[in-house]
Amino acid sequence: MKNFPFPALLALLLPFSLAACALKDSSMPEIGCAIYRFDDTFMTGVRAAIGNAAKSRAKITIVDSENDQAEQNSQVELFLSLGVDCLILNSVDRAAAGVEIDKARAFGVPVVFVNREPFGDDVKKWGKVYYVGANAEESGRLSAEILADYWASHPKADRNGDGVLQYVLLRGEPGHQDTELRSEASIRCLENRGIKLEKLAEDTAFWDRVKGQEKMAAFLASFGDEIEAVISNNDDMALGAIEALKAVGYFANGKYVPVVGVDATAPALQALQDGTLLGTVLNDAENQGRAAVNIAMALAKGEVDRLRVGRPVRLDTL
Ligand code: GAL
Ligand code: CA
Repeated sequence: MKNFPFPALLALLLPFSLAACALKDSSMPEIGCAIYRFDDTFMTGVRAAIGNAAKSRAKITIVDSENDQAEQNSQVELFLSLGVDCLILNSVDRAAAGVEIDKARAFGVPVVFVNREPFGDDVKKWGKVYYVGANAEESGRLSAEILADYWASHPKADRNGDGVLQYVLLRGEPGHQDTELRSEASIRCLENRGIKLEKLAEDTAFWDRVKGQEKMAAFLASFGDEIEAVISNNDDMALGAIEALKAVGYFANGKYVPVVGVDATAPALQALQDGTLLGTVLNDAENQGRAAVNIAMALAKGEVDRLRVGRPVRLDTL
């Protein structure tokens, strides 16, 4: 699969004290897991992987925080009051991680954050805090490399022949590390490849396919065929953009514009095959889910010294 690079996948094990967790009597550790929103395509994959990895190893309860941080706070409180051994949290608002950490620390329960990276100051509040996620900058860079390769090998991609790549950017949720870092890294990569750039427009579509379609329709209404590339922070928004492009005649009769995303979800891989999506980058739901559970298991059982701590490690070594 040509346009499908595999980034180094990182589980970032943040520094923590070596004090072992208290072991409970029950044979299987209990894990409470809250996901920011069940109807997010990529997180649905991570959620399934967490469920599978925990099978017959842990008693896990996974709840939907319905994109509501207050709701997630109550869910965390309930898990803690029920005596879970470890939490796996996909924060609604990563700025709220500090509050979640405080609650967990009061109960002596370790927390493994996934996908939404807590801020450094919050992590430092307590030793037993971990983060599992892909390297956001690398994902952004790799998706831009695909676009840069295309630009270099398709002179006609410069439709107006001005030697400048006119692009639009579909951003994920504001403040999310994957929005900020992927966007910056994508643009930096194109610049480093010596491509002159002009940003026609950018907007947030909150990782969402329908919103991606709406924003792209608005870009097309303003800029039409001036748009020479679409950079999207994830696949769902890229797929929405492709729908909007199809609606004005693209991807038929030789009319084409390159669209790149991140995640490599199943529908995105289908779009790659169909020739609509130019490229995507693997955001490894399977291994991120598995790593989160492996870390949670080790913490819950007090086997912390089994983990290499304090520095990034490759997921496949966990
Ligand atoms: C990103 C992913 C997006 C969305 C988001 C949710 O890593 O690329 O598609 O799932 O996480 O936090
Ligand atoms: Ca141009």
